[in-house]
Amino acid sequence: MERTTTTISQEEISRQLGFCREIAALNAVRPQAPLAFVDTYGCQQNEADSERIRGYLRQMGYDFTQDEEQAQIIVLNTCAIREHAEQRVLGNLGALVHVKRRHPDQIICLCGCMAQEPHVAEKVRQSFRHVDLVFGPHVLWKFPEFIHTLLTGRGRIFQIPDEAGSIAEGIPVVRQDTVKAWVSIMYGCNNFCSYCIVPYVRGRERSRKPEDILREVRELVEQGYKDITLLGQNVNSYGKDLDQAMDFADLLQAINAIPGDFLIRFMTSHPKDATQKLFETMARCEKVAPVLHLPFQAGNDRILKIMNRRHTREQYLEKIRSLKALIPDIVLTSDVIVGFPGETTEEFEDTLKVLEEVRFDALFTFIYSPRVGTPAAEMDDPMSREEKLANFNRLVALQDQISEEKHAAYIGKTVRCLVDGVSDDPRYPVTARTPGNRLVRLTGGTAQDVGQFMDVQITGANKWSLFGDLLFLEEK
Ligand code: SAH
Ligand code: SF4
Ligand code: F3S
Repeated sequence: MERTTTTISQEEISRQLGFCREIAALNAVRPQAPLAFVDTYGCQQNEADSERIRGYLRQMGYDFTQDEEQAQIIVLNTCAIREHAEQRVLGNLGALVHVKRRHPDQIICLCGCMAQEPHVAEKVRQSFRHVDLVFGPHVLWKFPEFIHTLLTGRGRIFQIPDEAGSIAEGIPVVRQDTVKAWVSIMYGCNNFCSYCIVPYVRGRERSRKPEDILREVRELVEQGYKDITLLGQNVNSYGKDLDQAMDFADLLQAINAIPGDFLIRFMTSHPKDATQKLFETMARCEKVAPVLHLPFQAGNDRILKIMNRRHTREQYLEKIRSLKALIPDIVLTSDVIVGFPGETTEEFEDTLKVLEEVRFDALFTFIYSPRVGTPAAEMDDPMSREEKLANFNRLVALQDQISEEKHAAYIGKTVRCLVDGVSDDPRYPVTARTPGNRLVRLTGGTAQDVGQFMDVQITGANKWSLFGDLLFLEEK
C-alpha cells in the first residue's frame, strides 16, 4: 500500500471537469436531460460523497430520479460496516440485472466502502456482469473520466487502488438539503479498532486545510445553511498531519468566529482524543451545539482492550464527568457493540452500568458483525446468536427507558429549535431539532418556516421524539 496521502492538483480536477463538459455536450443533443439515480448506504461520510457524485453528474448534464427504470446511470454508494449493510446492497445490485435487461444502455456503478473490499470487487467481476464500473473512495475524484471512458468505449472498469488516500478540493457538489449541510474536515482513520473495516477501506487519516474548510463553511452560511456538521471518522485527531499547528478545538473556534446565525455540530469523536481543551472550547463557543456523540462500544476493560480502543471504562466516564461539569445540559449519544468475540454476559453487564451512569439521550446499538480482514474476525466467538440477541434486547430496553425519561424532562420547557423539514403527518406538519439534535414534531407551522430558528413549547414526548407548539402561532 502507498503509505503517504496525496493532494489531487487543481489541474487534475480541471481535467475531470473537462470530461464533464464533453459528456454534457453529448447529452445536450437529447430532447430531455438524461437521468441519474444515486443510491446511498452507510454513514454521513457516504452522504457527503454522494453529494460530490451528484455534483459531477449535474456538470455532465444529468438530472436526478429515484426510479431505476428511468435512469441512464445508476450509482450505488455502499457501506461495509456490517454484514447486513452488504447483504442489502448485493440484493439490490442483483435485482438490477432485470432492469438493465430492459435498458441495455444503462450504466451501473458500484462505489463506496464495499467496492474497496477486494473480495467484493472480485465477486462483482465474476457474478454481477451487468455492473460496468466499480471504484473505491480513493478515486471518487476520477468519476467523470470513468463515465467518459464507458460512454465512448467498451468494457468494464475496476478501480480500487490500495492507497493511503487523497484529498481533492474543488469537486462540485449538489447538496440534498437547504438547511443542514455536511462538511468533511478529514478523511480516513488510523485507529484500527479490531472489529472495524473503515481503516482498510477509507485509508489513513488526512486533514483538509483549515482555509478550505473555513471557505466552505462561510459559503454555506452565506447561502442560508443553518446547521453545519463537520465530518470525519475521528474528528478529534484533526490537524495532526497538517504543517500548521491547528487542532480540532482550534478549528471549532475559527468556525465559531464566522459571522451568522448557525449551529456547528461534528462527528465522530473518539474518547481517547477527546480533550479537556475540546470540552472548554465547546462550552465557550456559542454556535457549537451542546451535544456530543462519543462512542464507547463496550463497558468492560478486557473487551475494550481487545477491541483496541485504547481507553478504559473509567477514563471514558471521567471525560463524561468533566464535560457535564462544564456543560450541564449537554446531550450525549454513543455507539455500542454487543456480542464482541469472547464477551461474556457478565462483561456485557458492564456496558449496562455505563448507560446507567451516563444516561445517554440516545444510543446506536449494534450486534457484532465479523468483517473480512479485521483481527476480530479471527477471534473465537463462542456465544450463540440467541444469547447475543437476548443481551442486545436488554440493552435496548434499558436505553429506551432512559431516552423516555430524558425526553419527558423537556415537557413544559421552551426551547429555541431549528425548523428543519416538513412531514407527511397532517397533525405535525413540520419537524424541528433542539440544539442537542432531538427531533421535535410540531403542531402548526408551514414549509415557509423551514430554516428558521423558533421558540417551541414542548408539550409531549416519547422515547423517539418530542412534541411541541410553535410559540409565535399563539401570539398571533
Ligand atoms: N468512527 C466512528 C464510528 C464508525 S462506524 C467511531 O470510531 O466511533 C459506526 C459504528 O458502527 C461504530 O461506532 C461501531 O459501534 C459500529 N461498528 C463498527 N464495526 C462494527 C462491526 N464489525 N460490527 C458491529 N458494529 C460495528
Ligand atoms: Fe472504526 Fe475505530 Fe476508526 Fe471508528 S475509530 S472508524 S470504530 S477503526
Ligand atoms: Fe459504512 Fe464506509 Fe461509513 S463502511 S459507516 S460508509 S465509512
